[in-house]
Amino acid sequence: MIDIHCHLLHGLDDGSMNLEDAVAMARSAVHDGVSTILATPHYNRGRYDTDSSVIRERAKELSTELEHLGIPLRVMIGQEIRVHSQLLEDLEAGHLLPLGESSYVLLEFPSSRVPQRFEEMVHELRITGLRPIIAHPERNAEIAADPGRLAALVECGALCQITSHSLTGRFGRSVKSVALDLCRRNLVHFIASDAHNATTRPYELSSAYRAAAEKLGADIVEYYKRNARAVVHNIPVIHKPTLQRRRPKSLFRGWSLFRS
Ligand SMILES: [Fe+2]
Repeated sequence: MIDIHCHLLHGLDDGSMNLEDAVAMARSAVHDGVSTILATPHYNRGRYDTDSSVIRERAKELSTELEHLGIPLRVMIGQEIRVHSQLLEDLEAGHLLPLGESSYVLLEFPSSRVPQRFEEMVHELRITGLRPIIAHPERNAEIAADPGRLAALVECGALCQITSHSLTGRFGRSVKSVALDLCRRNLVHFIASDAHNATTRPYELSSAYRAAAEKLGADIVEYYKRNARAVVHNIPVIHKPTLQRRRPKSLFRGWSLFRS
């Protein structure tokens, strides 16, 4: 399997704290069936301002250690970039990283709302040849309350990645309901681990794919896996036409906000 979003690299954000942690995460990823990882530390201005050169060095250090230990995991790099006003300029200047060698960029919203004028940003990113992937929209309160808000962004050209823990139920029933609803509307293009450690937010990508197969059918799992390969190989993802659905009542029972 390919994982396009995780916090494997050590000492850069709220993911692995040191090289030992990172190795433990890598072992659990391989145990889960992951062969290639896009390590995507947070970029959030004023909180996580890691320079891309540091990310490259950290990935090299970890890859060397994994090779030494015989752990068969390919580590590629990217960033989970919090949407901010200078995003386009920072990407064009090379201060921020796309996913691997691709034109896909992983973007994070605040948990409470969709950033203002994000449709315009999607349009401008597309003009520069970049494809935005929205990280875990199922955990955004505005989208959970109105999935049509996400549908509008997808119609503009945004792609969406939901988190494995949302499908397995680790984030609770409300988030799971939202995640499945977004999948059924064909607003989801990828499942990724968003793993932060080997204990409380571990790799459970295989469990998430099993949950998706059980609820949505085996075909959609192949669709998600194929799209993850598309990112690594920098080829177009497959789109399913978006669908309108009535909102399940359970979405709004016990809804609460989550941090990334
Ligand atoms: Fe993340």
